[in-house]
Amino acid sequence: MDSMIREIDDSRAIPLELLHLADPSDEMLDSYLDRSIGFVCLHDSEIVGALLMIPTRPYTMEIMNISVYEKYQNQGIGRQLIKKAVEKARDLGMRKMEIGTGNPGVVQMLLYQKCGFRIVGVELDYFRNNYEERIIENGIECRDMIRMELFLETEKN
Ligand code: ACO
Repeated sequence: MDSMIREIDDSRAIPLELLHLADPSDEMLDSYLDRSIGFVCLHDSEIVGALLMIPTRPYTMEIMNISVYEKYQNQGIGRQLIKKAVEKARDLGMRKMEIGTGNPGVVQMLLYQKCGFRIVGVELDYFRNNYEERIIENGIECRDMIRMELFLETEKN
């Protein structure tokens, strides 16, 4: 699909219903939305996909939210959003990208691995401890967070 990925100045311009696909909690979204570097995918000048990332620790950027409307999924938009985010992080001198996804998110894990991320750990009960409502996805509870990382090439390594 011929889509256009753009960095966006104001992450609040991204429709919440889109961001809710990856993160149903407004409280969580509020905790990172205003300090995020945001990218959107535009289709006929409408936002159909988005990615938000924040610098967490020195040289480390975490993708907090990646969402594509169902109608536009599986057309390469997620992959393009991650590519742009990785390029930007590298430009900013970051050395590592991180991403976390729920245990039922097998398709997400496939995509992240296709983008070079590797599984480095599991945060047990992350979703039970941080979300008020139980989240059910693919017929099972989204309970643990699978942690993934991508090391960015720098001139040093
Ligand atoms: N089996 C095998 N591979 C699959 C399957 C499947 N059932 N479904 C998709 N894939 C693969 C595709 O083959 C594709 O790989 P390819 O490029 O080699 O063909 C890849 O997964 C999907 O890539 P895209 O089309 O680029 O991804 P998409 O635009 O659909 O976006 C996303 C992926 C963002 C996860 C989207 O599905 C979505 O918005 N889901 C709901 C929200 C969500 O779960 N977000 C992530 C939460 S975690 C977080 O935000 C940090």
